[in-house]
Amino acid sequence: MASSSSSLSRRIWVRVVFFVEVWLIFFNVGCLDGVNGANTVSVGTISKVEDAVNFHIYYGQTFKVIKNALDGKSYLLVQLLGLLGSLKGITSDSVASQCVLKLYESGEIKMLNKSEPKQLSQFGAHFVTHFDQPQACNFASFVPFGEDTPLQRAEWIKFVGAFANLETTANQAYSAVKENYLCLAKVAASKKSFKPTVSWIGYYEGVWSFTKETYKLKYTEDAGGENVDKSINKMTYNVSNPEDLDELHAILCVSATLKPIQSLSVRTVDVLIDETFTTDPGSYTLSSFLQNIVIEDHSCFAFLSNQSIWRYDKRLYNSTLDWFNGAVSQPQLVLADLMEALFPTGNYTTTYFRNLAKEEGVISIGPNMCDWDTSTAVQPAIVACG
Ligand SMILES: *[C@@H]1O[C@H](CO)[C@@H](O)[C@H](O)[C@H]1NC(C)=O
Ligand SMILES: *[C@@H]1O[C@H](CO)[C@@H](O)[C@H](O)[C@H]1NC(C)=O
Ligand SMILES: *[C@@H]1O[C@H](CO)[C@@H](O)[C@H](O)[C@H]1NC(C)=O
Ligand SMILES: *[C@@H]1O[C@H](CO)[C@@H](O)[C@H](O)[C@H]1NC(C)=O
Ligand SMILES: *[C@@H]1O[C@H](CO)[C@@H](O)[C@H](O)[C@H]1NC(C)=O
Repeated sequence: MASSSSSLSRRIWVRVVFFVEVWLIFFNVGCLDGVNGANTVSVGTISKVEDAVNFHIYYGQTFKVIKNALDGKSYLLVQLLGLLGSLKGITSDSVASQCVLKLYESGEIKMLNKSEPKQLSQFGAHFVTHFDQPQACNFASFVPFGEDTPLQRAEWIKFVGAFANLETTANQAYSAVKENYLCLAKVAASKKSFKPTVSWIGYYEGVWSFTKETYKLKYTEDAGGENVDKSINKMTYNVSNPEDLDELHAILCVSATLKPIQSLSVRTVDVLIDETFTTDPGSYTLSSFLQNIVIEDHSCFAFLSNQSIWRYDKRLYNSTLDWFNGAVSQPQLVLADLMEALFPTGNYTTTYFRNLAKEEGVISIGPNMCDWDTSTAVQPAIVACG
């Protein structure tokens, strides 16, 4: 263990000062423990944050400062940087990466107990996502989830890159992703004829809620669609309440038999994204959806007649969705999926989304699906565009 940890320490830059609130707390002396002045290296300004708003990278003469303003959920973005080779431990098996699973299965990655400070202190940097417990200095918060747009979330690769002295690789990966994303968005924007209306909606304990998450609404717009929420007056609908249920059905369908709701007279939902959480996505089917939303008469729902009900749980390991892992760093693939949902060609295989209306199933990720050298960087998957 000692030798692997020192090799990790060599690879991951320990001279990183970690801030929570304001970057003006410039010298967080406690966390500079162990910094050996004689070993400091001069660094240039290599990584520049363009889109993300919740982190900034500041370069001093001999040290790097990475500021992170928010916190949330755990996440691994190391594979695009070819950092899997230096990943030695994980603290949760909720990992939807076939190559992390492969390393774990072969014993190259160990499961660590995150409540054991001794187990963690041997590692150069440990990316975490919650802030409730006091953290040792080698903890770095990694929180792309607070960002408002898909590209801002993806740019967090530079945050990981800065820790690992892989700024150039991170910049290249992000540039490729961004260029492809913007190219696809331009193609989508040129489809002037018809803007399908999209609704992201999830069911929890008897209540359907329309999403408030701005990055999802941005995906809809970038894919050439329109969000339904512009025309609704509340976000949650309790199916046990008949008025709520009528109103929800009226939003999703325009029909003379339902009480007309002002401003909804011409709008209908063409594409529905069912975000309902389930511990067993594999057995969540069209009938689960219809049951939750209490739809018996199918006739007035365009998303049913057009067979366009999607979920982002296509790729998963156990119940951990790749949507929360790979999809964050590769928003161009999410956008391409949504464009296929909004403007079907029948010629594109989606990565993260499956069509519930066509009874498309989930794909379980396994270690056997890892088909690249875990010590090298993976190129982002570029979608044909233009
Ligand atoms: C992790 O460590 C804590 C504190 O030592 C201990 O209480 C807990 O049982 C350990 N968990 C596992 C899964 O070993
Ligand atoms: C939904 O409505 C039912 C009946 O009015 C009520 O019992 C239930 O508590 C409501 N659920 C929520 C989450 O508000
Ligand atoms: C839904 O079906 C109608 C009629 O077939 C078609 O005009 C429309 O483009 C379809 N919408 C989508 C989003 O595929
Ligand atoms: C899934 O989770 C279960 C229970 O946590 C675990 O026993 C199993 O090894 C996990 N992996 C797979 C592939 O089922
Ligand atoms: C489907 O893809 C193939 C190969 O990429 C292409 O030659 C063909 O034109 C596409 N068909 C449609 C309907 O887009």
